[in-house]
Amino acid sequence: MRTRVLAGNWKMNFGPAEALAYFTELEKQLNARAPSAPPSQVAACRVIFPPAYALGPEIQKAAARAHVKLGAQNLHWEEKGAFTGELSGATLKSIGIEWVLIAHSERRQFFGETDETAAKRLSRALTLKLSVIYCVGETLAEREAGLTEAVLARQLDAFLSVLRGKLPAGPAILSLAYEPVWAIGTGKTATPDQAQQAHAFLRKKTAVSLGADDAGRLPLLYGGSVTAENAAALLAKSDIDGVLVGGASLKPDQFARILET
Ligand code: 13P
Repeated sequence: MRTRVLAGNWKMNFGPAEALAYFTELEKQLNARAPSAPPSQVAACRVIFPPAYALGPEIQKAAARAHVKLGAQNLHWEEKGAFTGELSGATLKSIGIEWVLIAHSERRQFFGETDETAAKRLSRALTLKLSVIYCVGETLAEREAGLTEAVLARQLDAFLSVLRGKLPAGPAILSLAYEPVWAIGTGKTATPDQAQQAHAFLRKKTAVSLGADDAGRLPLLYGGSVTAENAAALLAKSDIDGVLVGGASLKPDQFARILET
């Protein structure tokens, strides 16, 4: 059994006021759709990653009313110090944040994130027992050059090197997101079969390092132009355990429909 993770990454969109309005609307949308569903039926982990200035207690409470947790889009590998522009995992935890996103392709593409720095961030997150979505994925040029599996294998090795042969125990959830760069923000979703193929590869390779049981427990999310229209077909695939949604997570009605899926 794997935990389902349904997540939204707002990237650099929305401030605190917009975030509050969003969660109020999301709660309304969800109540209108399933007025009698008790919280116990909200089986999946539902997480939104807003910009850091929208992680405060008031917004956490508004999100909780829609049974959504908030997560940070990054964390640094040191606890504190001279690291301008970075976020401390320990401080995130102290303000009630339990989820972090690591190695998003936009961090890799635009901000010099490497497999090595991403692995260091993961190591810190695991030490702090934070729940994690760790991203991997190939660019269009890499796919066209037939390098998809080689790139995924390299990125996955960095992730696995931190685990030292075992999934961490405990209630925190460690998950991996396959986000092909060519599908992000382009409207060109990977087909369910393409995504399943990449996920099956990630699962198989993970099993070599962690064993079949732990690999079988690792939630694998797909991200890249996920919408309310295509989420169900993706989630129906055997190795797709969740979604990481960008653009469509900015619209409460779209995200509510994805959560319903
Ligand atoms: P889009 O859903 O906008 O393609 O973004 C995906 C993504 O990068 C989520 O992290």
